[in-house]
Amino acid sequence: MESCLNEIDFVILEEGVIAQDVIAQKINEKKPTDDTDAFYVADLGEIINQHLQWQKALPRVKPFYAVKCNDNKPVVWTLAQLGTGFDCASKNEIALVQDLGVLPERIIYANTCKEISHVKFAAAHGIQMMTFDNKDEISKVARIHPTAKMVLRIVTNDALSCIPLSVKFGATLNECRQLMECAKTLSVDIIGVSFHVGSGCMNPQVFAQAIADSRRVFEIGTSLGFNMNLLDIGGGFPGMDNDKITFEKITAVINPALDHHFPAASGVKIIAEPGRYYATSSFTLAVNIIGRKIIHRASTDSDDKQRTVKTIMYYLNEGLHGSFDYCELPYYLSKPILFKKLCPDQQLFNTKVWGPTCDAWDCITDQWKLPELQIGEWLLIQNRGAYSVTISTTFNGFQRTTTHHVISKEAWKILQKIKKGNQSPAEEQVQVVWNFNC
Ligand SMILES: Cc1ncc(COP(=O)(O)O)c(C=O)c1O
Repeated sequence: MESCLNEIDFVILEEGVIAQDVIAQKINEKKPTDDTDAFYVADLGEIINQHLQWQKALPRVKPFYAVKCNDNKPVVWTLAQLGTGFDCASKNEIALVQDLGVLPERIIYANTCKEISHVKFAAAHGIQMMTFDNKDEISKVARIHPTAKMVLRIVTNDALSCIPLSVKFGATLNECRQLMECAKTLSVDIIGVSFHVGSGCMNPQVFAQAIADSRRVFEIGTSLGFNMNLLDIGGGFPGMDNDKITFEKITAVINPALDHHFPAASGVKIIAEPGRYYATSSFTLAVNIIGRKIIHRASTDSDDKQRTVKTIMYYLNEGLHGSFDYCELPYYLSKPILFKKLCPDQQLFNTKVWGPTCDAWDCITDQWKLPELQIGEWLLIQNRGAYSVTISTTFNGFQRTTTHHVISKEAWKILQKIKKGNQSPAEEQVQVVWNFNC
């Protein structure tokens, strides 16, 4: 373990063993009276699959993974091995990525309003690319990091997205010229344009419009003498298909829009900042039913007949203050898999599923129909990798949920192969030690 800069904990699975087997093993090992803590199993192979799909579907777009989405070290490390860049929002995210041996050229500091000390840190650590959308930020950068390469973030029409971001970030097209003139006066360099269509984009056409708008801003920048050579199309890509949107529907809009407004011959480098896309599907959450309340309520049918409706309230040991992101739930909550096998004709009931805290807002969903389950039973919820570990709190004294990271033998071999082709000689110098058990 000499010259160990980092320790990355994950397990390389034996031939034929998959992540689901690990979940089953962990649950079976637990003693119901001593330990029913929720846990995640993260399958790093899923991240590799997503990456291979990205390369095929968006060959002109280099992904800069948005670390905010899931900053577990093995996740970030896997992406570093795959050769992605990184979108960092703070000095801690920059430090995390750099500790894994990633060079500054592979990092964009994509936060339009940065703390002065964080800008200083970025400057001291060689980070050049940074986003902005206002004059004050340009003045700040001119003072603290005058050699930065600035990327102007513009607003998008993202009102239909799960989490619209343009209410807080982005300059309107009308504001762009003035901002760029201000940068010129302060001798700050602008190299391109960025946008974000909102996390959980529901309308691919927003990408097409934003790419067209970016072209207009490129023209303004070029007319002012900037060498505009970077387009950053942000995040917003789904991490799992749902009935409203798929990755394919989005790429089918992006590729022709890029070819039209930024053809390969233009020489413009195109990057994106996907978070959800990479992290979602790799994490499965195992949660335990810690409490239950059965409610019978009288209700009147449309034909005036009285009947009794049974609703079961389940209390889980994970909730909105932990692994569940209330902003995205209606769109992205997978139905649970019941760990215990049930007979197929089991009756299903209306349920209300709560988190463990004393907060009455801590309701995960009332949309699941579930059979009558007992305290101590386990539910498995897939696709929990995005905005879960990074937003969870210890509200009410509940601990953060542990993650067991695994990778199949096959995926491990693929990663080694990709890694060989990706690393620059400087990056190969950095030694990362991983702890794994077979
Ligand atoms: C600047 C920026 N880039 C990228 C992302 C990642 O977005 P997503 O997870 O939807 O891909 C976010 C999410 O909030 C963001 O604010």
